[in-house]
Amino acid sequence: GIDTSKLLATTGKVALDIGFVNTASCTSEITYIDGDAGILRYRGYPIDQLAGKASFLEVSYLLIYGELPTADQLAEFDSQIRRHTLLHEDLKQFFKGFPRDAHPMPVLSSAVSALSTFYQDSLDPFDQQHVEISTLRLLAKLPTIAAYAYKKSVGQPFLYPDNSLGLVENFLRMTFGFPAEPYEADPDLVKALDMLFVLHADHEQNCSTSTVRLVGSSHANLFASVSAGINALFGPLHGGANQSVLEMLESIRRDGGDIPSFVNRVKNKEPGVKLMGFGHRVYKNYDPRAAIVKQTADTVLDKLGGNNELLDLARQLEEIALSDDYFVERKLYPNVDFYTGLIYQAMGFPTRMFTVLFALGRLPGWIAQWREMIADPTTKIGRPRQIYTGATERAFVPLDAR
Ligand code: ACO
Repeated sequence: GIDTSKLLATTGKVALDIGFVNTASCTSEITYIDGDAGILRYRGYPIDQLAGKASFLEVSYLLIYGELPTADQLAEFDSQIRRHTLLHEDLKQFFKGFPRDAHPMPVLSSAVSALSTFYQDSLDPFDQQHVEISTLRLLAKLPTIAAYAYKKSVGQPFLYPDNSLGLVENFLRMTFGFPAEPYEADPDLVKALDMLFVLHADHEQNCSTSTVRLVGSSHANLFASVSAGINALFGPLHGGANQSVLEMLESIRRDGGDIPSFVNRVKNKEPGVKLMGFGHRVYKNYDPRAAIVKQTADTVLDKLGGNNELLDLARQLEEIALSDDYFVERKLYPNVDFYTGLIYQAMGFPTRMFTVLFALGRLPGWIAQWREMIADPTTKIGRPRQIYTGATERAFVPLDAR
């Protein structure tokens, strides 16, 4: 036995760093986080200056190409994306094969993986022209795929994209609209969802982004790498947390809203009981995204008639946790997922779609990080080492002698 509770141990030339707590896997110019100060910047711009001021498309362009677009560049980017929103008809058939109650996240990752079969020109990650087309295809098609995953799960007909609409409006129409029926998205809803996508757009080397880079480091193409990232995001300790927060709040409400007894269960470390939406590997201060979401939750829920009872519970839970030594000592603060679920629910999304919304927001970050990695001549295939703790050499025993 090696004591793995101490995170960094050095054995010979191999450093043991479980969960990569102290290991940088790359250099990057995309996103800066100072977890102690609660700072997040995309390409140097603080998140609170971007949220609500720059659109998701502008931020996507910024992350991928390094600069905020001019009006002409943005118009061209937007029109290129609108041109690629349709899915191949055969890909549409693909959705029909999944069980009706399939969770939309594995449907999303499977469909993104399948894009490599429809666009075989995407297979060479060093073919710059095709990297550009794959970038546009992915940005344009993921909302369509996400809406189809939703429609499949509720047994409703798929809607083709309407390319007179912007990305977020088009996604809402394909999700909540019906064929041959007019659908007009509430502009406040469009604005709020666009802003939530901006808040999720990149977060340096988190679990899903590191997965995208690791898979891409073997020179797997963009679609294969992003599909792997979607699967990493699915886990409840990462993107799946937004779904878990709402389930946690609902279970507290079912138990009569007894927050102190729930908090005690968390502090007693009952197996599987955590304060979901709290804590972060990097932020040891208030997550700056959570602060923005918290401000928005009020207005959006008032406007859309969301679940104020659950919002009240969330607020009380935050207040109790932030004044409790257990959380204070461990520097556990609300993360971006603590309030987003309540907003998504007010917008009409079922809980199972919450992580899909996270994936739609995170996509430009995954693409930017994959492109940065592929373009960097110093990139090497990701191949961590291990500290072997198994049996020492022993002699084989034939089956009849065991
Ligand atoms: N509730 C209760 N206790 C917690 C929580 C929590 N949410 N998070 C951490 N702790 C405790 C741990 O039990 C540990 O206590 P100990 O020192 O007594 O053993 C201490 O705080 C440190 O926690 P670690 O698990 O070592 O922190 P790590 O950096 O590995 O984990 C993580 C970070 C996964 C986010 C964790 O805080 C967590 O599970 N949070 C809940 C899930 C969640 O909200 N995930 C979303 C993350 S943000 C995102 O993906 C967008």
